[in-house]
Amino acid sequence: MLKMLKHSAGLLILLFLCIVSTLWGYPFRPPLDLDVTPRTTVLLNGLLGCKRFRGLTLNYSLLMLEEDADVLYVGARGALYALQASDISSSSLQMIDWEASDDQKHQCFNKGKDNKTECYNHIRFLQKFNSTHLYTCGTHAFSPLCAYIDGREFKISSVFEEGREKCPYDPTKSYTGLLIDQQMYTASQYEFRSYPDIRRNSPSPTLKTEEAPTQWLQEADFVGSALVRESVSSSVGEDDKIYFFFTEKSQELSPYFSHSRVARVARVCKSDRGGLLTLQKKWTSFLKARLVCSLPDYDFHFNVLRSVFLLEGASPQDSVLYGIFGLEWKNVKGSAICQYSISDIQWAFEGPYMESKEDSNSKWTQYTGKVPDPRPGSCITDQLRAIGINSSTNLPDDVLHFVRRHPLMYRQILPQGQRPLLFRRNVDYTKIAIHRVTALDGQIYHMIFIGTDEGWLQRAVRVNDQLHIIEELQLFEEPQPVYSIVISEKQMSVYVGSPTSVVQLPLSTCKKYSSCFECVMARDPFCAWDGLECVEITSHNIRANLKQDILNGNRGCDESAADDQVLHRSRSVMAGDDVLLQCELSSNLATPEWTLDGKKLLGYGLVSGYRFGTDGLLVIEARPYQSGNYCCFARENGLHVPVVIYSLTVRQDLPPPPPVDLTHPPAIFWTSQTSHSDSIEDFHPTPLSPSFEFLSLRNMEAMYLSLIIILGGLCLVLTVVLLYVGFCLQGRKGKYSLRAAARAERKRGANMELKTISSHCNGKADAHDGLLQIVPGEAPTSPNKDLPPAPPLPPPPSESEYGIGISATLPSVLRKMNGNSYMLLRQTDVETTSPLYYSFTEELNRILEKRKHTQLCSKPDESSV
Ligand SMILES: *[C@@H]1O[C@H](CO)[C@@H](O)[C@H](O)[C@H]1NC(C)=O
Ligand SMILES: *[C@@H]1O[C@H](CO)[C@@H](O)[C@H](O)[C@H]1NC(C)=O
Ligand SMILES: *[C@@H]1O[C@H](CO)[C@@H](O)[C@H](O)[C@H]1NC(C)=O
Ligand SMILES: *[C@@H]1O[C@H](CO)[C@@H](O)[C@H](O)[C@H]1NC(C)=O
Repeated sequence: MLKMLKHSAGLLILLFLCIVSTLWGYPFRPPLDLDVTPRTTVLLNGLLGCKRFRGLTLNYSLLMLEEDADVLYVGARGALYALQASDISSSSLQMIDWEASDDQKHQCFNKGKDNKTECYNHIRFLQKFNSTHLYTCGTHAFSPLCAYIDGREFKISSVFEEGREKCPYDPTKSYTGLLIDQQMYTASQYEFRSYPDIRRNSPSPTLKTEEAPTQWLQEADFVGSALVRESVSSSVGEDDKIYFFFTEKSQELSPYFSHSRVARVARVCKSDRGGLLTLQKKWTSFLKARLVCSLPDYDFHFNVLRSVFLLEGASPQDSVLYGIFGLEWKNVKGSAICQYSISDIQWAFEGPYMESKEDSNSKWTQYTGKVPDPRPGSCITDQLRAIGINSSTNLPDDVLHFVRRHPLMYRQILPQGQRPLLFRRNVDYTKIAIHRVTALDGQIYHMIFIGTDEGWLQRAVRVNDQLHIIEELQLFEEPQPVYSIVISEKQMSVYVGSPTSVVQLPLSTCKKYSSCFECVMARDPFCAWDGLECVEITSHNIRANLKQDILNGNRGCDESAADDQVLHRSRSVMAGDDVLLQCELSSNLATPEWTLDGKKLLGYGLVSGYRFGTDGLLVIEARPYQSGNYCCFARENGLHVPVVIYSLTVRQDLPPPPPVDLTHPPAIFWTSQTSHSDSIEDFHPTPLSPSFEFLSLRNMEAMYLSLIIILGGLCLVLTVVLLYVGFCLQGRKGKYSLRAAARAERKRGANMELKTISSHCNGKADAHDGLLQIVPGEAPTSPNKDLPPAPPLPPPPSESEYGIGISATLPSVLRKMNGNSYMLLRQTDVETTSPLYYSFTEELNRILEKRKHTQLCSKPDESSV
């Protein structure tokens, strides 16, 4: 019996693994044009104009900008700061030390909380109260307090207010809040056992959400809130509305098993005063609707809302909402950005309601019965005032009864274009902020700043209904989530809060683009080429000569002038030597292309004598007829920009070097694009460091597939074992796993194209045992539309947390392989002091040396992945 139990448990795990492996493969085939690769990658040491603030504490989670006073307020753990917005690193800062007392911390510790993280005063709320004061709340070691801050002197009031109705106890609980006309609206699960609640706290009347018989919010995680001033210029006396954005447990019937949680928007009216008898001290205007962000053709849904940003327009109807969505599975990364119009949200709240037949546990379906009048959940407008309903306390009982039972709307809110603007694999976005920029063409573009969970900031521009990610910037040495992003037009800066510090960056850094092509292809609305350099357009009043092309990113530069900027190098080598002609492309979207004496070089590998890499062209065992002018082009966006020209001379003066001589390895000549010396350098390769893997995969997809294969392999092994044991016991159950394994096998057959050149192939035991592999990749020598687009760059290397014990086989570094033929893999178990990624040149040299030592295998081994 015990054996049988174990057996079925094993089968369950197996089934789970197989399901996971199929799901894994599934979501990562989005529509190709949505999966955008950041055009350039800027590592920490390449950041320009970066300023930092780091106080004595941690958790810089709240940022609040006071543009007029040029102050950036920061809420951190046990402290508040007022920083100079023009330069947050300047020493003229003010600080309020507001930590919980030792006694308070001790009580917190005794409640079973962690005194290293939780038992502090984490500042959770900081907003402007009136023209002179700010209002702030902190968790205060699980006993929340609030206080006023005098903004001019930056002093906290001596009298504190009870915070338990306004601020969560737990610093990690989701929370959002707004101060509107000195009334505080907040949403959170305040205490450990309480229901999530949307409240108006002060002054009275205090309003809450209903808990019974219908619970209005189900395990809600709040991510944001926004005021939409609909009363302004309303012809019907409409009220202002407050919107709350969150993820909660799904209540509606859904054909998809995966929908356990859904993204929602809820709204209340600002003048709501609750009901008189029914819904006393409860919202009479609470309604909620689902926010959909899916890939419709793939039936794939992003159900977890992570961050929202309301970009206000001239009128409320012109305002747009941007949302970051994620996946429900904890160990699979992926993010989507969807955009909604406020009028679409309003449309959902004007539509039919949903109902739940018996109790709140049964699934909700459309309500088709009679709707009482006035329309339940609406704000008090002129129309209602005309019939004597001046306040929500005048609303008839039947209306309030209806509101109480029908908080959910039937219509779902679809994103603009019915699909995301962007979908990225492998990245978890955490925060988003938008800024409007008027470009040279007179059009207003949305500049989108996105923070990741590993401390990267991406700058993107929305062009039509797509995002072009101009660049990704590494903000921190240690990966850490971006907590908040604030943009200042006045300071032309973006501020980012994180667990360890606050970072200030310029909104644009045009001067880093050194040529017209670079400047135009970046498609940065802030930047244009003035004939000499790439400049901020805001700094130029005369704009006639500026060149910018946001829409296409390829017009305005003189292609014939491109040749003037090309670097010229000459190289001379002995016949039989290997030469690397270096050509590193700054853009991840560019494809290198080589010509020899004006003719395109085709093919790669040993037969053709050439290999294409991310940073150059390798001429293998150069022969005299390979002499000539080699030109490296960067092909991007329909343009073909020459980067460097090498005149290569292969001399036949000396006999070819002896085949294998470990003490005097054959010289490898290498040339550097940046090196200004044209001399021939003898290159003495450094000793091989152990255990490098050098693989080439067609793209990231292959990595996922290899994961699937691993899982598939696991399935197969388990299946075989279980079948062996299981046939005697329960012969039939094995078929599911067999099918999955067969599927995995098929994938393997179709996609395992990794090749290895064994280091043991000529029978020589290799001292390094390094398993170095050089693999000809699928170097696209011409832009091929059929090729899948460049895979996304997983920002910084991270300890992979894919769970199921396969982390050891996952590479920790995968960079700069877009559209190029080589990919660098480093196993996580190799020494940890390595830099972020290795220079391709360095690797190549190592490999070349290796190849010389070992000669070439006629028959490559199967990859050891
Ligand atoms: C505060 O920062 C520390 C260190 O980065 C982190 O471990 C912790 O989770 C943070 N706490 C909160 C509430 O953000
Ligand atoms: C947490 O409490 C333990 C036990 O009282 C104590 O030893 C430790 O120093 C405390 N840590 C902090 C950071 O207060
Ligand atoms: C702002 O509010 C604070 C706290 O209630 C109060 O002391 C102060 O006088 C107010 N300032 C103005 C200008 O009303
Ligand atoms: C509503 O307000 C109007 C004008 O302010 C007043 O005349 C009327 O009596 C009020 N009605 C109720 C039911 O309070």
